[in-house]
Amino acid sequence: MRRLVSETTLRPRQLILPMFVAEGIDTPRPISSMPGVVQHTRDTLRKAAVDAVNAGVGGLMLFGIPKTRDAVGSGAVDPDGILNVALRDLRSELGDATVLMADTCLDEFTDHGHCGVLDADGGVDNDATLRVYAEMGLAQAEAGAHLLGPSGMMDGQVGVIRAALDRAGRADTGILAYSAKFASAFYGPFREAVDSQLKGDRKTYQQDPGNVREALREIELDIAEGADMIMVKPALAYLDVIRAAAEASPVPVAAYNISGEYAMVEAAAANGWLDRERTILEVLTSIRRAGADMILTYWAAEAAAWLD
Ligand code: PBG
Repeated sequence: MRRLVSETTLRPRQLILPMFVAEGIDTPRPISSMPGVVQHTRDTLRKAAVDAVNAGVGGLMLFGIPKTRDAVGSGAVDPDGILNVALRDLRSELGDATVLMADTCLDEFTDHGHCGVLDADGGVDNDATLRVYAEMGLAQAEAGAHLLGPSGMMDGQVGVIRAALDRAGRADTGILAYSAKFASAFYGPFREAVDSQLKGDRKTYQQDPGNVREALREIELDIAEGADMIMVKPALAYLDVIRAAAEASPVPVAAYNISGEYAMVEAAAANGWLDRERTILEVLTSIRRAGADMILTYWAAEAAAWLD
């Protein structure tokens, strides 16, 4: 009877696996604050991606960790940069078997760790960053990404990327906009995952955790600029924002169950304080119940196998 009256579905196709690939390493590198998650080599990335797709996940979101960084994030626009090379690897391995997504953001590629380029005073220069994002997005589309994930929270980022894609005849490449992205403490472990160089914070471009009206405004703007799907991030501390987004959005809504949310559960489970599998499935079900059509989660492949 519980099955008969169940209101919320959780299916492998609704899960997206974020993956990290590092340049110039021979063996995968564990990320200590995210037990079970690694920085992949190009080779192990390919294998893990195939396994995840075989487990039924709906998509993969790729992050690159370059060997060298500079002030403008040159590795991000370089066709031979690690993220673009890995996208090419995965597209040739997987074709259209999954939705291949790329993080369109500079923080992994800049030596100061900010999501954009800086102005003379050391602040993030919104409009100068937009020009780099347009070039980066195009490079990712050319490398084989089906869907770009602009996550830097610059004003106008969706519009410039959409225009650059269209100008280049890439109308088929879509945009999953990280629209409502909050300046969150829960990103902590991710900073280790990508060897982030950031000092300071992202409060000049990410949102105040207390603001839901602002989140809806960001979503509206991104859709007007051409977003095909939108995202709320983080997920667990923002379930009400996901609900509001789901009610307001005419396009599919994603939620990112981020690194700190992963780390909390893994740490508690490792101590025997929580039942790991039950907790993970409850977390994912809650995010779906709040209204997310799809969930980015580091548990995607494992949970997909359980759900199958
Ligand atoms: C930006 C980006 C971040 C995450 C995804 N894309 C970091 C940030 O904004 O500080 C965080 C994901 C996570 O914490 O799991 N490139």
